[in-house]
Amino acid sequence: MITLEHIAAVRAQCDEVRRAGKTVALVPTMGFFHEGHLTLMRTARAAHDLVAVSLFVNPTQFGPTEDLAAYPRDPEGDTRAAANEGVDILFVPSVVEMYPRPGLTSVTVSEVAKGLCGISRPHHFGGVATVVTKLFSIVGPCTAYFGKKDFQQLVVVRRLVEDLNFPIEVVGVSTIREPDGLAMSSRNAYLVRNERQAATVLFRALSAAVERMSGGERDASRVRAVAVDLIAAEPMANLEYVEVVRADDLAPVDQLAEGVEHVIALAVRVGTTRLIDNATFTVAAGAVNADLPRLDPL
Ligand code: PAF
Repeated sequence: MITLEHIAAVRAQCDEVRRAGKTVALVPTMGFFHEGHLTLMRTARAAHDLVAVSLFVNPTQFGPTEDLAAYPRDPEGDTRAAANEGVDILFVPSVVEMYPRPGLTSVTVSEVAKGLCGISRPHHFGGVATVVTKLFSIVGPCTAYFGKKDFQQLVVVRRLVEDLNFPIEVVGVSTIREPDGLAMSSRNAYLVRNERQAATVLFRALSAAVERMSGGERDASRVRAVAVDLIAAEPMANLEYVEVVRADDLAPVDQLAEGVEHVIALAVRVGTTRLIDNATFTVAAGAVNADLPRLDPL
């Protein structure tokens, strides 16, 4: 694995590989790797000749009161972990390399960026869309891997690629969870002991909602209420939102329609840590197929 800090070097390497008729994969990250990131790298490694991972804590996607300064970092550990996964290029640009002067150009993806996390983080997806556009421009035609844990981000990136005709294939990879169901996230590092326990409420709320649908409930507000009640019962948790929306455009739904992919998505504050999670699901022939594991009772 080579670690590169400069855009021109990454571009040259990727171009050379493509000229030789080989394929390129990109895994965009902000580092502090956990099993979720490593799964993205492994999935990319299994399908492509060159795997490039970008590690850049992008300042433009953090709001002024958010956790940019505190965002966990472990450059040495990340380098070892990426090398272990057989990554070819680790791209670690500085802020100056990515933003040599304040940009006059930014990318806005409307509608799908407005609801859910967009309500409390109005500038977040603009920052994500802009930096992802820059990464696509740097790496060039490739397959890009994103985790489904950030489902709204995945939808934003898919729309960006479709609307602007990027020569990029976007692949969403299922969320990796801790044994008690907590979705892996770099921000889990902020949780202190009793908060870590309370944080399982996100998975419990999603599981209970899926359970209710499996029992035949098709009214989205009643499904939502199951999750709301569970979170209200956890004293350390503060609900930001729970929504049931269509998976492709994040439009809210009243009734769950057969054959349509939906997502139930939520954001919850546990102490001062904001956590998100979701489950995609489809109702087919009366059964609910959800991308959410069932845990064995402890
Ligand atoms: O999901 C992330 O880690 C970031 O939002 C991304 C896609 C790397 C853009 O900075």
